[in-house]
Amino acid sequence: MGRKATAGAPKIAMVTAYDYPSALIADRVGMDMILVGDSLAMVVLGYDSTVSVTMEEMLHHCKAVRRGAKDSILVGDMPFGSYQTGSEEAIRNAVRFLKEAGMDAVKLEGGVYQAEIARAIVRSGIPVMGHIGLLPQLVSATGGFKVQGRDEEGARRLLEDAKAMEEAGCFAIVLEAIPDRLATMITNSIKIPTIGIGAGAGCDGQVLVMHDLIGLFDRFTPRFVKKYANVYGMIEDALTQYRDEVVNGQFPATEHTFTIKDDVLARLYA
Ligand code: KIV
Repeated sequence: MGRKATAGAPKIAMVTAYDYPSALIADRVGMDMILVGDSLAMVVLGYDSTVSVTMEEMLHHCKAVRRGAKDSILVGDMPFGSYQTGSEEAIRNAVRFLKEAGMDAVKLEGGVYQAEIARAIVRSGIPVMGHIGLLPQLVSATGGFKVQGRDEEGARRLLEDAKAMEEAGCFAIVLEAIPDRLATMITNSIKIPTIGIGAGAGCDGQVLVMHDLIGLFDRFTPRFVKKYANVYGMIEDALTQYRDEVVNGQFPATEHTFTIKDDVLARLYA
């Protein structure tokens, strides 16, 4: 997965998945990478933020994704609290993503400040994807879901973050919610691929949260999301129709039912 779009290679396509059927589909359509993102906290488990999701919950979903995906590279997102407390615990938890849940790599949020942890995990033999820019695990500390790196100081910090994660040995970096020309500049300044989400077209690849792009998350849609479907609406229509047909006796129809021979039934009634 070392391909840089600047070298004319096709861009890297990545999407999140959280369960067996979504992983199966993502894998079959040829996604290069599938991220079992901690966004599952909000879009699948209904938490208010990603902070609450636990290692056990992440591993549970990773295992389901592993069973669905055969070819895509699988990246498990290390949840808040699973790597910030020191290299030893970070390595122990990263190992669990590979050993227990069958992931190929892990992702963690942070730049310069998490570079030592990332380096330790890489040195233990586990591929690490970095994640800089908007860091959902830190939104309460950093003032909400805001575009990062708009002023010179912030932009310089992001460039340093990217270089620190590259230097730590990360194999790729997610750039989240940063201005497109800054993302392009960062992409051109490092050798490892950048995967953008709300970071413009100049990145080496793109990632989106599956429930956003298929229209299955009802709470909000970030500006950078393109909605390719309205699955929420489709499920709502199907369930409404099913409920109505059950209530008015239209379902099940003859074609959905099993038969029994007349004589067998007659003997039961006798
Ligand atoms: O958890 C997640 O889905 C992510 C993506 C937004 C990159 O980290």
